[in-house]
Amino acid sequence: MTKTIGVVGAGTMGNGIAQVAARAGYSVVLRDMKNEFLERGMKAIDHSLQRDVDKERLGANEKSEIVSRIRTTTEWSDLAQADFVIEAITESIEAKSEVFRALDKTAKSGAILASNTSSISITKIAATTGRPEKVIGMHFMNPVPVMKLVEIVRGIQTSDETDKETRRLVEEFGKTPLDCNDSPGFVSNRVLMPMINEAIFALYENVATRESIDGIMKLGMNHPMGPLTLADFIGLDVCLAIMNVLHEELGDPKYRPCPLLRRYVDAGWLGRKTGRGFYEYNDK
Ligand code: 3HC
Repeated sequence: MTKTIGVVGAGTMGNGIAQVAARAGYSVVLRDMKNEFLERGMKAIDHSLQRDVDKERLGANEKSEIVSRIRTTTEWSDLAQADFVIEAITESIEAKSEVFRALDKTAKSGAILASNTSSISITKIAATTGRPEKVIGMHFMNPVPVMKLVEIVRGIQTSDETDKETRRLVEEFGKTPLDCNDSPGFVSNRVLMPMINEAIFALYENVATRESIDGIMKLGMNHPMGPLTLADFIGLDVCLAIMNVLHEELGDPKYRPCPLLRRYVDAGWLGRKTGRGFYEYNDK
């Protein structure tokens, strides 16, 4: 039974996952490469929980207790205490393979190793370890504290017990697990990213302004955010990485990333996090 949860990566997704796990009562070990990344992650958690304190949905004491359940570290060895580890690092098979090899060496032999990958094959990630039956995809949505869905992706060797424990945890986190086969982009990004990419093509081909494209999808389809705003929110580098996986793995030209998306990523215009994407953000 899981008591301690390890989270690798203190970025947007990782700190959100650490927060929901700690809020559900688990001890959390949050690992990143540098202290400054951990400090930034803890600041984001504090900020996110403070919203609920301000709205009187969480007591200040409860907030302190949640935060105190999260221990930060730059050492792999601290993850040896974890019963369940969730990786949430950058969307690259090389980087993820390195992390899974390190986890396989340091984590308890019975520990489950989950990946928050948004598009990479779980079977491929699992094959870098000596425990493929204990590797599973656990795909959270951004912002993690708000979004109810977690896509559960079984690799070809994932065991029933791993699947059962993962679903149990997701429910304990107050979220809904939905199953999906190990196919590029799973369901969420196979459907979402081509829509975002098409919106970028619409801008590229001057079909409408950025405001019109977003307004049409928001007002016309009742989406909470327009696709260009959503792309900025997710990160244009993440969107490009996912489109590249869909394009390469499925081989269909319909998944070709829009040249404008590539150009923005080349320019370092990655969306909200860099202060510029399809829109400009002054708060960064
Ligand atoms: N932490 C905690 N709470 C947060 C939060 C955060 N980071 N961000 C927003 N919230 C809460 C607010 O407190 C508010 O709560 P309340 O309604 O209970 O009072 C609620 O969310 C709504 O927030 P706001 O009123 O500030 O703003 P919006 O109404 O515009 O909602 C949004 C913000 C929830 C982000 C909404 O715009 C939305 O749902 N956008 C779409 C998000 C989406 O599609 N996510 C999936 C992206 S794809 C993905 O993650 C997969 C990956 O692989 C790419």
